[in-house]
Amino acid sequence: MEQTLSLATTWAYTFFFAYYPYLAAGIFFCGLAWRLTHENRTVQALSTQFLSNDRSLRWGSNLFHFAVVGVFFGHIFGLLAPEPLYIWLISNETKRTLAVIMGGAAGLVAFIGIALLFVRRFTNERVAAFSTAGDRIVVTLILLQIATGLGGTAVTAVSPLESYLAIDHWAQGLFIFRPQSWQWLLDTSVIHKIHILLGFLIVCIFPFTKLMHMVAVPILYFVRPNRIVNSGGM
Ligand code: HEM
Repeated sequence: MEQTLSLATTWAYTFFFAYYPYLAAGIFFCGLAWRLTHENRTVQALSTQFLSNDRSLRWGSNLFHFAVVGVFFGHIFGLLAPEPLYIWLISNETKRTLAVIMGGAAGLVAFIGIALLFVRRFTNERVAAFSTAGDRIVVTLILLQIATGLGGTAVTAVSPLESYLAIDHWAQGLFIFRPQSWQWLLDTSVIHKIHILLGFLIVCIFPFTKLMHMVAVPILYFVRPNRIVNSGGM
């Protein structure tokens, strides 16, 4: 990690990979508290099924949502699990192979899903007409987020193991309030960095968008019969 850095580089890394994540966490938790106490009734992702009950919605939504749950748990384990927790079971090399194969597969399925939803959001006349700026921004950001995540995974597949582990050291350092851990990202690829910055942007906007429906997971949805709001196939 020993490198001579210009003041501007040090400043930029400190801001973007040390302060900004904490700032994003602050905005997230304050926004969450505000939304739940002041705008609780608007916590939802309005269905567009009544506008157009098409195949893109059914396939896109199912592929995206199921795969992104896998991606989420992959991030928690991949980035935040401390080495002593898993090293007795799997080596770091195996962990990276799992990240590339399982993360890559889940990421690819999530990408296909969100790409279908993205195209539908912008090209289906009825859906486009009823979409808000927030709807368009969220679907675009998630598409970019998944694309850059997959790009990062592709880089990881061909990089030395240390480059993969450096990102874990950074994330775990932040988690235990060691902001100097930004230094671990000095040699990380640009695509990984873009992914991290975009990821925290999504964290910042989360409480103010339809993404909030995630905090009100409709568990009963999985067991109750389907509610068809438009069977016309439009
Ligand atoms: C908030 C901060 C986030 C951080 C720090 C982060 C970090 C990472 C890292 C380091 C990788 C690369 C793993 C590798 O090299 O093998 C990755 C991959 C990926 N990320 Fe993120 N990510 C974040 C948020 C998100 C979000 C919000 C999404 C989706 C909506 C997402 C989707 C993906 C996907 C699809 C991949 C590729 C497949 C996989 O490894 O699961 N990430 N992420």
